[in-house]
Amino acid sequence: MSVCATVLKQEEHTQSPRSILVAYDGSEPAERALKMGIEVAKAFNAKIYVVYVVNIPPEVHMILTTGTILGEIAREGQRILERAKSILDKEGVQYELITEAGDPAEKIVELSEKFNVMMIVMGHRGLSGFKRLLIGSVCEKVLRHSTRPVLVVK
Ligand SMILES: Nc1ncnc2c1ncn2[C@@H]1O[C@H](COP(=O)(O)OP(=O)(O)OP(=O)(O)O)[C@@H](O)[C@H]1O
Ligand SMILES: [Mg+2]
Repeated sequence: MSVCATVLKQEEHTQSPRSILVAYDGSEPAERALKMGIEVAKAFNAKIYVVYVVNIPPEVHMILTTGTILGEIAREGQRILERAKSILDKEGVQYELITEAGDPAEKIVELSEKFNVMMIVMGHRGLSGFKRLLIGSVCEKVLRHSTRPVLVVK
């Protein structure tokens, strides 16, 4: 008993704080993913990075130099993430809201590595919700390229 407790204590000290990434686009499935992410974060005592990516094609991304466009991106991020914030504020979990611009799946995978998250949580479909497909294209691309476990919420 006491040996077990000691081993656990040592592991706690050597591990960096745990975190998860919730990919959030403001859709209903993404909201379900956020709620599931909150449960996971509570269970693992982890921080949540809530990420919204403003979808911008690479050509446009190359010329993203003017402050006006960057301001618009930030405002769009704020608009989408507002609801996520109101859900999170009631839950007492540690979180950070992040707006990025670019290809959503690429950015989600990139940030999951940058923040060294233990898991990505996302919805099976998103805003366009094209019913004929099992999962949306962002979800599929993240599943294909992620180096982390991905929890897809239906
Ligand atoms: N721009 C985004 N930023 C952050 N997360 C996103 C973004 N787009 C999608 N996601 C995440 O991916 C999940 C699945 O959405 P996805 O975009 O793959 O499906 P869709 O919108 O139904 O289909 P598609 O976009 O391929 O037409 C969402 O529930 C959300 O968790
Ligand atoms: Mg989509």
